[in-house]
Amino acid sequence: MGGDLDAGWVATIRRRLLAWFATEKRDLPWRADRDPYRILVSEMMLVQTTVAAVVPFFERFVGVFPDFEALAGAEEERVVKAWEGLGYYRRARQLHAAAKAVVAEHGGRMPEDPAAVLALPGVGRYMAGAILSQAFDRPEPILEANSQRVLARLLAWTEDLATTSSKKRLWDAAARLVPPEQAGDFNQAMMELGALICSPRSPRCLFCPVAAECEARRLGIQDQIPRTRPKPAPTAVLEACVVAVREGRVLMVRRSGPGLWAGFWEFPTIHREGGDPAARSFGDPVDLADGVERLTGVRVEVAGQVQSITYGVTRYRVRLDAYAATVGGGRGRRKPLPGKGLSEAAWVDPASFGELTLAAAGRRLVAAIIDEPEAWGLARP
Ligand code: ADE
Repeated sequence: MGGDLDAGWVATIRRRLLAWFATEKRDLPWRADRDPYRILVSEMMLVQTTVAAVVPFFERFVGVFPDFEALAGAEEERVVKAWEGLGYYRRARQLHAAAKAVVAEHGGRMPEDPAAVLALPGVGRYMAGAILSQAFDRPEPILEANSQRVLARLLAWTEDLATTSSKKRLWDAAARLVPPEQAGDFNQAMMELGALICSPRSPRCLFCPVAAECEARRLGIQDQIPRTRPKPAPTAVLEACVVAVREGRVLMVRRSGPGLWAGFWEFPTIHREGGDPAARSFGDPVDLADGVERLTGVRVEVAGQVQSITYGVTRYRVRLDAYAATVGGGRGRRKPLPGKGLSEAAWVDPASFGELTLAAAGRRLVAAIIDEPEAWGLARP
């Protein structure tokens, strides 16, 4: 286990990093105490999201659900709503499931046994290490994007970090480095150094507490680590939706599960071209009004395109064209066709948009509608 690492080097890195962290660490709400619940919430939120972005969501979430019991007893819809805006909603469901498991299987207290922590839903090796070290100071290693880069540079590890041999090498080194005491601070110091100093591009080595211990810096190759593979280009997607207005209300649909955005409300949306991340395609290309009718049972009259927004989801780059629409022809409401994963259609008062759980694209459209209601055929409130 990283047994080749020099004991003096290991001791110096531990000492310098801990001293640096004591004075330089950011004041973050989950660092105020060692509450395992708050640590679990923060770590679930920090997967794929930066510290700065997470802080306001964290405060709001623990305000609504202050402990394992509160979260475990909540309806899933409320949990997802409290998570709204963070993305990666699967994490919210996993966190919810983990809280239920802590309550049902561990009497509402986070277990201290590594195997029991690892068995919680959504908890992998990184998260188990983070919880055990930060909440209980157990000397368990962690490895995530920031600390992985720091370690790779300290060791001058030039291989692609995605390979199994790289993972093994870096996990072994992390396990060798984590000190028997202050493991939580040490692990966070590694991540903090990666976030604040040892950045992906142009690392600020002049401010680094372990620059003298860094093999990459000694060789002058810190800019070449980690070696990255070019990312495959995202798949282009074209979608269209309507903001259909009737008597001051807007037509919306709620997707049922499983799949992307299950449980979320959206403006009726069809797939037009390219990849199909959210299974919105009908198989054959459909006209927008026909698609909306099949989704909602409502025949709309499509007016002009008002807005176009682009967003990324998983490996897709989506352009969503949003059209104003009215309800035409006096044709009555029919039942939507089954099989499109839509469980409900409703006419929503724009004043109530805030009560619905919407994905990022939907929230951007709502903001545009509130901003300029006339453009969509709505009166200004
Ligand atoms: N990224 C994930 N968890 C973190 C933590 N506790 N401190 C800093 N960065 C992190």
